[in-house]
Amino acid sequence: MNAMSPMRFDIQELTEVCTKHRITMSKYRGRVFCKQCEDEVLKRGWSEHSSTLIQTVREKHFCGAKLPARHAQSGFKEYIAANNGQQNAKQQCVNFTKDFKAGINRNLIMVGRTGTGKTHLACAVARNVLETLKYARYVTSEDMANEIANAWTKADDSEASAIFRFTDCDLLILDEYGLHDRHENRLQLVHKVLYARYDAGKPTMLISNMTMASLEKDLGDRLWSRFQHDGLTVVECNWADQRAGGGV
Ligand SMILES: Nc1ncnc2c1ncn2[C@@H]1O[C@H](COP(=O)(O)OP(=O)(O)O)[C@@H](O)[C@H]1O
Ligand SMILES: [Mg+2]
Ligand SMILES: [Zn+2]
Repeated sequence: MNAMSPMRFDIQELTEVCTKHRITMSKYRGRVFCKQCEDEVLKRGWSEHSSTLIQTVREKHFCGAKLPARHAQSGFKEYIAANNGQQNAKQQCVNFTKDFKAGINRNLIMVGRTGTGKTHLACAVARNVLETLKYARYVTSEDMANEIANAWTKADDSEASAIFRFTDCDLLILDEYGLHDRHENRLQLVHKVLYARYDAGKPTMLISNMTMASLEKDLGDRLWSRFQHDGLTVVECNWADQRAGGGV
């Protein structure tokens, strides 16, 4: 006797019909079932499993992004566009997000006074990027420089790995550029990340209180020209401080 044959006849077709699917029921090892019902349960189980998985990944990416706690509620919807400058700033950030999602990897520079909502808009961009399960990371240039500079003090870290971490994310938001890290060596570490991201073709959002002219000078010709690859968006926020009740 063929060793395979008993297996084939293990499933018995019954005359009983599934009330839902109007097909004959089957019997396997004493268990009576409808093949289509069984199929639906499996599919539902899989889709529940995959949506839990997606949720877990999204939460992990949100945690990893390290958005500032005070901007937990900063989205595009919460950003008030009361003047032309604000309307333009918001629109440029919305466009940047759309392009990012479409795979266009250009950079964005946002400069301007304190309190004009630069970090707010950056977090709104990050949140929309994270929703698509991409990996965004927020960091101030001071914190990033410190993390890279101190990497060698940890047994399982190095300057190269720290630079890689900031290069690996799909979108890097580098806030408060040039505010605290005027130290030449620290600035060089920040520039190393910017070069590495250019080489990897990954977009960066650079935010600063500096003027465009001094930012350009600070980055230097080589980095400045690289920063413009695939088109660069520049957003200038120079209206009164929102926190001081300005904005007009
Ligand atoms: N146009 C705006 N609409 C709503 N809230 C704003 C706006 N501009 C600034 N804010 C709020 O003001 C505060 C300061 O903004 P922030 O993004 O930290 O400014 P910046 O980074 O430019 O110094 C934040 O709480 C932010 O949510
Ligand atoms: Mg800020
Ligand atoms: Zn059925």
